[in-house]
Amino acid sequence: MNFNYFTENLLRWYPLNRRDLPWRETRNPYIIWLSEIILQQTRVAQGLPYFHAFINKFPSVEALAGAPEEEILRTWQGLGYYSRARNLHACARNIVHERNGKFPDNYKKLLEMKGVGPYTAAAIASFAYREQIAVVDGNVYRVLSRFFGLDVDISSHQGKKAFGKLANEIIPAKTPDEYNQAIMEFGALQCVPKNPNCQQCPLRTRCHALQNGLVETLPVKEKKVKVKSRYFLYYHIQIDGHTVVRKRNEKDIWQGLFDFPLAEYSSLDRIVNIEPDSLDLPEKLRLLEPNYTISSEKPFKHLLTHQRIFASFVNIKFGANHKEALKKWVLSENYSLVNASSLESLGKPKLIVRYLNQEY
Ligand code: ADE
Repeated sequence: MNFNYFTENLLRWYPLNRRDLPWRETRNPYIIWLSEIILQQTRVAQGLPYFHAFINKFPSVEALAGAPEEEILRTWQGLGYYSRARNLHACARNIVHERNGKFPDNYKKLLEMKGVGPYTAAAIASFAYREQIAVVDGNVYRVLSRFFGLDVDISSHQGKKAFGKLANEIIPAKTPDEYNQAIMEFGALQCVPKNPNCQQCPLRTRCHALQNGLVETLPVKEKKVKVKSRYFLYYHIQIDGHTVVRKRNEKDIWQGLFDFPLAEYSSLDRIVNIEPDSLDLPEKLRLLEPNYTISSEKPFKHLLTHQRIFASFVNIKFGANHKEALKKWVLSENYSLVNASSLESLGKPKLIVRYLNQEY
């Protein structure tokens, strides 16, 4: 039967081709959970240094639960999707304070945790507890759709259901953990999205896509992500070696991170060729006779999954004699005035780090 052919070949391929990754050497649910949250929407090569940083700084769920959110966001800096880091913290606290430090130990209970969806719950349940539950991620969609010729749209609810059903029919009872790792690794290394080397593939003789010329067509994905453009004009305000920062509290991108005061516009022309007179600077600041430097370079372009951010920066320096007046304004706006080392240690969006390092 094709199921046996499929699993047996995958399980033979895996030990010969697997990468040595640190979270594969353990059954510790904390380490597995941490790795899976980091690896959501993130490639292994990018996630690895973050994984090591988190394990070093927060070697246990108690350590993570006890850390200030600021420190967690700073360690997460640059990975994107910051809600993952906030959920990580909420989960760790829940486990320590509500569950006696014990991880939920099955798929259903794992799903109750914040930020843990069907994929992550299946990964933890199978890797840590050997539960027979299939992981279904982008790699798995690709491998299954090509091998079995399943051509339902993976972005539809119906498609997701069909793939989940098939995946759970295939997963063997004996080594569900090994099988889940194997199929994901196979998708990452062998059955890759573009130009897979099908001549060298252990599944080639019975692969539906290869036999029918559908390798480039499968999996079927109809929905394209819509990307919205946004235009930010940042005020990088400095006085006497200090910088004005604001914590992003609103429900928007980068929640919990620190950036600068900013004006948002609906078109690009408002953030290019800016003149001091056309700045929407608060009157209170204008009265303090600042020195402006308007960055003459092109705006920074920063891509997120659903948003394309264009950002220009205006550097505004005030004389030290205006420090008290500026502090008043900073307080009234709920901003903070920080020195250089605090600015360095705050968690900031990558865009802000790029600007501070002048990485165009
Ligand atoms: N991506 C998500 N989870 C992974 C894992 N456990 N190993 C390799 N890549 C992954």
